[in-house]
Amino acid sequence: MRVLDLSVNGDHHQVGAPAHWTLLEVLRYGLGLTGSKQGCDKGDCGACTVLLDGKPVLSCLTLAAAVEGRAVTTIEGLMPLHVRNGGDGPDPIQSAFDRCGALQCGFCQPGMMLSARALLNRNPCPTRDEIRGALAGNLCRCTGYTQIFEAVELAVAESLGVAPAPRSWEAQRMDPDEAQRLARLAAAKLAQSRAAADGKGQG
Ligand code: FES
Ligand code: FES
Repeated sequence: MRVLDLSVNGDHHQVGAPAHWTLLEVLRYGLGLTGSKQGCDKGDCGACTVLLDGKPVLSCLTLAAAVEGRAVTTIEGLMPLHVRNGGDGPDPIQSAFDRCGALQCGFCQPGMMLSARALLNRNPCPTRDEIRGALAGNLCRCTGYTQIFEAVELAVAESLGVAPAPRSWEAQRMDPDEAQRLARLAAAKLAQSRAAADGKGQG
């Protein structure tokens, strides 16, 4: 047993835990933060994803003692972090997942949303392929992923002030030509935003 000094969601904790405990075990069984899910417990599913200094890590494969002095963010801290940074209410990723119906059982969602948040922090205007790549380590058994990708794209469009493409279920209810026209328009506006962001990055 040893006492760990951990910074989790902006709070400082001293918590006693066996030296071999993973970060996931300390979060769930030491601190009662059960939002990080214990799925496979061997690095395959991504359900235990948390942010470590802003980068996604698998907490089931991370020794708790190795993260002393570093900033851990769990799903419980996502909205408070957004509010601390001047936002109002849930993180836009959480809101977009909610409005897109990007969950069913919800087990994958904490890790999925934290991976998506880390992606948007480093790349505010990702392509569908970049979103797919960033979430590749987060498995979902329920949704088929379409609504998850759409939710991230909705959060991107809203953060850029660009009209989003129709969601898949909206498009099904529209005249197909109109759905295609709106999707092309949204894609063109996003491409413009990407080009502008790239230009700023190179300037
Ligand atoms: S519980 Fe950590 S990757 Fe599955
Ligand atoms: S919503 Fe059930 S695993 Fe993703």
